[in-house]
Amino acid sequence: MLYSALINVMVKAARRAGRSLKRDLGEIEHLQVSLKGPANFVSLADKRAEEMLYTDLAKARPGYGFLGEEGGTREGADKTHTWIVDPLDGTTNFLHGIPQFAISIGLAREGTVIAGVIYNPANDELYIAERGKGAFLNDQRLRVAGRRKLNECVIACGLPHIGRGDHEQSRREMAELQNRVAGLRRFGAASLDMAFVAAGRLDGYWERNLQPWDIAAGQIMVREAGGTISGMLGNDDALATGHVICGNEFVHGELVKILKPL
Ligand code: IPD
Ligand code: CA
Ligand code: CA
Repeated sequence: MLYSALINVMVKAARRAGRSLKRDLGEIEHLQVSLKGPANFVSLADKRAEEMLYTDLAKARPGYGFLGEEGGTREGADKTHTWIVDPLDGTTNFLHGIPQFAISIGLAREGTVIAGVIYNPANDELYIAERGKGAFLNDQRLRVAGRRKLNECVIACGLPHIGRGDHEQSRREMAELQNRVAGLRRFGAASLDMAFVAAGRLDGYWERNLQPWDIAAGQIMVREAGGTISGMLGNDDALATGHVICGNEFVHGELVKILKPL
């Protein structure tokens, strides 16, 4: 498969940082049983991955801005382009040795995401999307699932962590959806939740209070696979609001109708 020079840059960076995370995942199994536990080690792994991504992306595209979860904003001379990067999405999974985590890289041009790469080094699944050119998983073109009956749909959500978000609201949402869908899931890595919607594995996904680095690459992945993605209002921008509802056009519409009033 021939990808653009831009995608090649993103993939190369994701794969190098991915090798580092995969090595660290091996180490975590040892630390799991030690008294100290792997928490400090994971936060170092996270920072190391972000520095690798910054180095590679800045070298290939000097001047682009960079927004990373760990290092925050780094301005560039080129004010029109910004990398939006989560070096390790699914930290809790990673910390527990659960192989559902990813590196997520989005590129925004004047505020619109024009390319995205999501890479899970644990199973070597590489998701790619570029505006107008489609979305791919390991070179296979992606298309969102076509289901139009909610009671046949598998839907994923996010759950606010301890001390964060509105737990009551989250329980109301789950209770409401549980009554209407074939299955609810909580996988723990927002970027992969959106990638799974793009791949048709999940029919839909929603989560509140995310950050730009959780959403950027996933948003273009869903769109390029023919799906619809918005904030909680149905016609607002997920990246701008931090809330996500996505699926095919029908599922997205149904989820908005159910979740908006809650
Ligand atoms: C988290 C994951 C998780 C979502 C959290 C995010 P992190 O990102 O995407 O699925 O529910 O809200 O913060 O902290 O693992 O990079
Ligand atoms: Ca994240
Ligand atoms: Ca992260």
